[in-house]
Amino acid sequence: MLLDGKQLSVEILNSVKRKLAGKKRKVGLAVILVGAHPASVAYVRQKKLAAEKVGFAFHEVKLPISVSEARLLRAIEKLNCDKKIHGFIVQLPLPKKIDTRKVLAAIHPAKDVDGFHPLNFGRGFLQLPALLPATPAGILKLLDFYKIPLKGQDVCVVGHSNIVGKPLAMLLLNRDATVTVCHEFTKNLKVHTKSADVVISATGVPNLIRASMLKKGCVVVDCGGVKIKNKIVGDIDFDSVKKIARAITPVPGGVGPMTVATLIENTYFASQNNFEFL
Ligand code: GUN
Repeated sequence: MLLDGKQLSVEILNSVKRKLAGKKRKVGLAVILVGAHPASVAYVRQKKLAAEKVGFAFHEVKLPISVSEARLLRAIEKLNCDKKIHGFIVQLPLPKKIDTRKVLAAIHPAKDVDGFHPLNFGRGFLQLPALLPATPAGILKLLDFYKIPLKGQDVCVVGHSNIVGKPLAMLLLNRDATVTVCHEFTKNLKVHTKSADVVISATGVPNLIRASMLKKGCVVVDCGGVKIKNKIVGDIDFDSVKKIARAITPVPGGVGPMTVATLIENTYFASQNNFEFL
């Protein structure tokens, strides 16, 4: 079974569009992009297309790669105070000289539609109302849509980044999965992936997960995607794994569109003052 994130994302975008039909006030989404990293430029373009599709006003704040941390923090403060902006994100990664943690903590939590602010992260962990990170939340939506069970299942998350692996592990734990988090320092990755009912990989290492590392009939989710010779290659060796997995996400067309759709949904929720208490 192919877990089609593209199709589900279109349904989510249509549902947001329907909710906005006939409303005069435009929902405003902004993205701060520092520099012109090709992958980041491509992601921002997809976010812009989705935002415009549902009828949001999309604002792109482009800053040079040489931007100072102080200048970036000022741009964030401006968006925090802008009544026309209901949600915004800072596209990652940022240049090394900038303290990403400080930048993410400067975003007003009620406008933090990427769910990266410590308050949203912590509230999400405690199952309190919060804006949840788009990629992990999008993956759960996709698994729920295809009725993949999580409760009591052995789920192996590969990758422990702050944007995918860590928040995903927390959301899975909150769904009563038995979660193992592997990463680049894990001694023997195969030991963990081989026994898992669900494997979710978010490393950016092309074809890291091969069929020999998996249990027959498992479910596999690929959050990777790097461009190699004009082709996007995920973390999962799709051609071999599709023969033994019960369900698998394609790259592209799996997790990527779900991330974008969840960002749009988060922005809609933020625009309804759902998080004003934050
Ligand atoms: N870079 C890679 N994925 C993401 C994401 O979901 N949000 C942001 N802001 N940057 C990213």
